[in-house]
Amino acid sequence: MLLPKVELMTDEELIALAREAAAKAYAPYSNFCVGCAIESVEGEVVTGANMENACYRLGLCAEQSALTAAQHKFGLDKVARIAVVGGSDATICTPCGGCRQAILEAAQLSARDVEIICGSGDGSAVEGHTIGELIPFGFGPANLSRPA
Ligand code: THU
Repeated sequence: MLLPKVELMTDEELIALAREAAAKAYAPYSNFCVGCAIESVEGEVVTGANMENACYRLGLCAEQSALTAAQHKFGLDKVARIAVVGGSDATICTPCGGCRQAILEAAQLSARDVEIICGSGDGSAVEGHTIGELIPFGFGPANLSRPA
């Protein structure tokens, strides 16, 4: 039996969704808006943006907000590709260390080297990475002796 073909987005389309999400960030303290779009293995997509707080340390990153939505919509173990866009100039926005660790959690659950497409805020530059590149020798659920 033939399985239905899954329609996946292009990197540009996923980046465009991350850019739309960044426009909905709540970042009045840093003025650094970040958007994230996550695609599942079956082509479902969720988005998130950073949300800051007057109590600065309570701010939430775009990737963490999108990963929470991903868990609710299709499960962390189905995460396949992530687009991140942030800032307003030509500097490419890569996930911070904490977000890399959060992405590693999904990657180890799904046993995939999750792709991370990173873009600059001004739309001039995009580069692709994998979580294995961004957090080599990482510590994740696979290191614990209990099933995730
Ligand atoms: N930020 C993210 O949302 N994701 C990252 O990976 C890097 C940083 C947010 C946190 C804060 O609201 C603002 O960008 C400046 O650090």
